Amino acid sequence: MTDLSISAVNHQVRLAARPLGLPTGANWQFSEAPVALPAEGGVLVKVLALSLDPAMRGWMNEGKSYIAPVALGAVMRAGGVGVVVASNNAAFAVGDHVAGGTDVQEYWRVPAEQIQRGGLTKIDLRLGTPAQWLNVLGMPGMTGYFGLMDVGQPKAGETLVVSGAAGAVGQTVGQLAKIKGCRVVGIAGGPVKCEWVVRELGFDACIDYKQAAPAGAAGVANWDAVREGLKQHCPDGVDIYFDNVGGDILDTVLTRINRKARIVICGAISQYNATSAVQGPKNYLSLLVNRARMEGMVVFDYAARYPQAVAEMAGYLREGRMKSKEDVVTGGVKVFPATLNKLFSGENFGKLVLQVAPD
Ligand SMILES: NC(=O)c1ccc[n+]([C@@H]2O[C@H](COP(=O)([O-])OP(=O)(O)OC[C@H]3O[C@@H](n4cnc5c(N)ncnc54)[C@H](OP(=O)(O)O)[C@@H]3O)[C@@H](O)[C@H]2O)c1
Repeated sequence: MTDLSISAVNHQVRLAARPLGLPTGANWQFSEAPVALPAEGGVLVKVLALSLDPAMRGWMNEGKSYIAPVALGAVMRAGGVGVVVASNNAAFAVGDHVAGGTDVQEYWRVPAEQIQRGGLTKIDLRLGTPAQWLNVLGMPGMTGYFGLMDVGQPKAGETLVVSGAAGAVGQTVGQLAKIKGCRVVGIAGGPVKCEWVVRELGFDACIDYKQAAPAGAAGVANWDAVREGLKQHCPDGVDIYFDNVGGDILDTVLTRINRKARIVICGAISQYNATSAVQGPKNYLSLLVNRARMEGMVVFDYAARYPQAVAEMAGYLREGRMKSKEDVVTGGVKVFPATLNKLFSGENFGKLVLQVAPD
């Protein structure tokens, strides 16, 4: 089955060189390939939208991690959503909307083995838009859900602090923690993001870590504001800190934690472009004093339970108890390099999505 006239060209973005610090144009290479029909048992997917994730920066590095690095010269790894345009697999029909590891390209030829391993899933557009399937119903939403519920273990009445509050993971964590009865304080860069998480998402407060210090410049991290904000907005201390950024913010929150606090190490975006050693927590003895724990999590470990979390989150979306904000950038794969870097300057507002083709 196919509705594709196979004359299409697949535009791709490949990793040309490993970056030192923030990626530049020199790290990327654009390529073209003819679009080929799927092999026996496979399907061909036209990519509609890509998830741009901070983790991509880590995948560009050499070295051991929870997943192999992207090989030099390979098409850059990415998750995405698309539509089936040709199928040799009875489980997928032309026109089905799907999600999976599309990579940074316009067409994804999915082999039978990948489908057998569960690498291609159908998405139900009645539950959410393609962009929402990359956000609250997708990988960042699953990260927020399992990071909070399994590692953070919230109890009604507790105080939760989440950094990267207006981002993809942060928006899910804060809203879910409110639903579970917590007091929720966000940390985000700039007054617009802070106002949004309080007014639109219902957080109890948000600390702008970039607010100008009395004698400082706007846009530069202001640790006094974080310290003071935590004192003011977490008068009973911090029971759960969901850490998306690491560095000085993690260190500052560590000074305010309660006995038996849980610190979810989800990410450390402030460190991903470090050109020298990653900054570890200086105040870790607070864990000892407070009998607290700090635990890392990787979302892929929870894959078998995604359907349960998607069902719960889709219910919250439908009932209007949860919002899903995406920052959708148009321009296709050629603007991928510049768009990715928005994550590190904080220019994205909500889940960063690159639209590759109109739905
Ligand atoms: N463990 C897992 O399985 C897993 C899965 C998904 C994501 N993650 C991690 O979760 C974190 C959030 O990811 P996301 O997809 O939701 O991204 P995001 O929050 O939507 O976007 C990144 C945000 O990070 C903030 N940021 C950038 N540089 C910063 C710095 N130096 N200090 C403080 N904040 C900074 C910016 O927001 P501001 O404007 O507020 O600064 C930016 O908008 C990342 O660390 C990511 O690696 C982990």
